[in-house]
Amino acid sequence: MASSSPDPFFLLIFLTLFLTISTSNSLSSSSPSPLSSPSPKPSPISTPRTHSSSSILDPNQLKALQSLNIPTGKTPCSPSHNTTTICDSSTPFSHIVSLNFINCSDDVALSLTALKSLSTVKDLGFYNCPISPIRLPSQLALNLKSFTCVSSLKKLTGVWLSKLVNVTDLTVSHVSIVASGPSIIMNSIKNLHSVTISNANLTGYLPKHWHSNLSYVDLSGNKLKGRIPSSLTELENLVYLNLSSNSLNGTIPASFGDLSSLQNVSLSSNSLSGSVPDSFAAIPRLVHLDLGSNQLNGTIPKFISDMKGLKYLNLERNNFHGVLPFNASFIKKLAVLKVGGNSNLCYNHSTLSSKVKLGIAPCDKHGLPVSPPASKDISSDDTDDSDDYADDESQHQEHSHGPSKVVLGISIALSSIVFIIIFLILLAKCCK
Ligand SMILES: *[C@@H]1O[C@H](CO)[C@@H](O)[C@H](O)[C@H]1NC(C)=O
Ligand SMILES: *[C@@H]1O[C@H](CO)[C@@H](O)[C@H](O)[C@H]1NC(C)=O
Ligand SMILES: *[C@@H]1O[C@H](CO)[C@@H](O)[C@H](O)[C@H]1NC(C)=O
Ligand SMILES: *[C@@H]1O[C@H](CO)[C@@H](O)[C@H](O)[C@H]1NC(C)=O
Ligand SMILES: *[C@@H]1O[C@H](CO)[C@@H](O)[C@H](O)[C@H]1NC(C)=O
Ligand SMILES: *[C@@H]1O[C@H](CO)[C@@H](O)[C@H](O)[C@H]1NC(C)=O
Ligand SMILES: *[C@@H]1O[C@H](CO)[C@@H](O)[C@H](O)[C@H]1NC(C)=O
Ligand SMILES: *[C@@H]1O[C@H](CO)[C@@H](O)[C@H](O)[C@H]1NC(C)=O
Ligand SMILES: *[C@@H]1O[C@H](CO)[C@@H](O)[C@H](O)[C@H]1NC(C)=O
Ligand SMILES: *[C@@H]1O[C@H](CO)[C@@H](O)[C@H](O)[C@H]1NC(C)=O
Ligand SMILES: *[C@@H]1O[C@H](CO)[C@@H](O)[C@H](O)[C@H]1NC(C)=O
Repeated sequence: MASSSPDPFFLLIFLTLFLTISTSNSLSSSSPSPLSSPSPKPSPISTPRTHSSSSILDPNQLKALQSLNIPTGKTPCSPSHNTTTICDSSTPFSHIVSLNFINCSDDVALSLTALKSLSTVKDLGFYNCPISPIRLPSQLALNLKSFTCVSSLKKLTGVWLSKLVNVTDLTVSHVSIVASGPSIIMNSIKNLHSVTISNANLTGYLPKHWHSNLSYVDLSGNKLKGRIPSSLTELENLVYLNLSSNSLNGTIPASFGDLSSLQNVSLSSNSLSGSVPDSFAAIPRLVHLDLGSNQLNGTIPKFISDMKGLKYLNLERNNFHGVLPFNASFIKKLAVLKVGGNSNLCYNHSTLSSKVKLGIAPCDKHGLPVSPPASKDISSDDTDDSDDYADDESQHQEHSHGPSKVVLGISIALSSIVFIIIFLILLAKCCK
């Protein structure tokens, strides 16, 4: 029976086999998937639309987009591979309210004329767009509610940023900023809720006056110096504070605990001295506390172990001394605990097992480290820490690999069954 027309039943079986194998392939290469990496083709049609364009985009704005080299096509109000555009639904023409440039090519020039006709934009963002700095028309500058610049525009000045007087959210990161300090920027903006100026080589001192509405402040990775002003602790809406990797010195303000909304705080990698203020005990919802790599001294306060929500605690590389006041159940509850690099700190070996790797020595009966960690210098601490971290990571990874292995196994089993069925059918056909 050598019929040339393909057997539909046969085709079905092959299709099933093919699907099973390709499914199991894509599963086995779960996260670093080779399938997704080769040249993501620009396909604006398949990207989800953010706005069902019921009305037509203002012709002037359409022209401006085209002059900026933004692929417009049929749906200018939808994301393409290097921009996202969101429009309002006003009539007769809709207007652009959000414009974000992503991974743009370096030949893009944002002309003043084009930007002038885009002054309806409220949310402007540049992500990885190392184009030349732009002149913002004042109408656009006044209209902006949110401005983001990440690894873009090469260089910004405090004067340029201080023109964005109406923004509530300001993010500038990995861009060098020339300014006398954060004050010139932050004090010109009238209603700032969230500010990130990080890894910007910003110099100067922390502001003396802060907007009472601030809930998010990230000034990490700059060259800020001087003390932390106690006026900062009046921000009762502040949820997030990151001042890490600057050159701040002096003590942590005693009123720090007035920051009653605070959840995540990092003051790490500065030159802060003195002890941890008792008022920290009054911060009810602290989740993340990083005071590492400073010159803080005194004992580690016992009240830290009463912080119910705490998940991350870093006190490493300071000058803390005495007995670590934590028990095993508190340590187990934390996702991360770092206390190494405090040469006069020790743990009570009758309450804590040495299996909990802390990077500090056990105490003698006077509460002093038993073997002065003379041989254990900074360099060996380094490796200890990274080892601990690696241990943690590998454990987590083992857990998360479990289910995908099961799925892979099932897929292999399924494809084998399909193989056997085909084999049997072939056998039946040829023996007819
Ligand atoms: C931008 O480029 C980075 C790295 O080249 C890539 O990971 C990212 O997905 C790109 N983003 C967009 C929206 O194309
Ligand atoms: C977006 O990508 C297109 C094609 O890759 C390019 O011609 C255009 O200059 C890019 N636009 C921007 C704003 O980077
Ligand atoms: C922005 O601020 C200016 C003056 O500082 C004010 O006149 C204007 O109404 C504000 N614009 C918006 C859109 O809030
Ligand atoms: C900050 O300064 C350092 C050294 O002076 C330089 O390597 C780095 O690129 C600068 N960062 C930015 C965002 O310009
Ligand atoms: C704080 O924000 C509210 C609304 O979010 C606003 O009414 C109020 O004026 C702001 N206060 C200050 C001091 O900017
Ligand atoms: C603070 O910022 C640094 C980098 O700028 C980052 O590595 C760190 O995770 C941040 N800390 C918190 C508490 O978010
Ligand atoms: C903090 O640093 C400044 C210089 O930036 C210095 O004048 C001052 O004495 C330092 N203060 C303390 C307490 O170390
Ligand atoms: C706050 O800290 C927790 C615990 O470390 C972390 O999971 C979370 O992402 C942080 N939140 C922010 C906004 O950084
Ligand atoms: C902590 O350091 C400060 C100076 O930075 C010093 O005055 C104080 O005596 C030190 N306290 C302890 C308990 O070592
Ligand atoms: C461990 O410390 C916490 C917080 O101080 C306390 O609530 C708990 O009872 C202690 N657990 C044990 C077993 O001592
Ligand atoms: C260690 O803990 C035991 C039992 O809680 C206690 O009797 C002892 O005094 C503690 N040692 C030090 C040095 O604190």
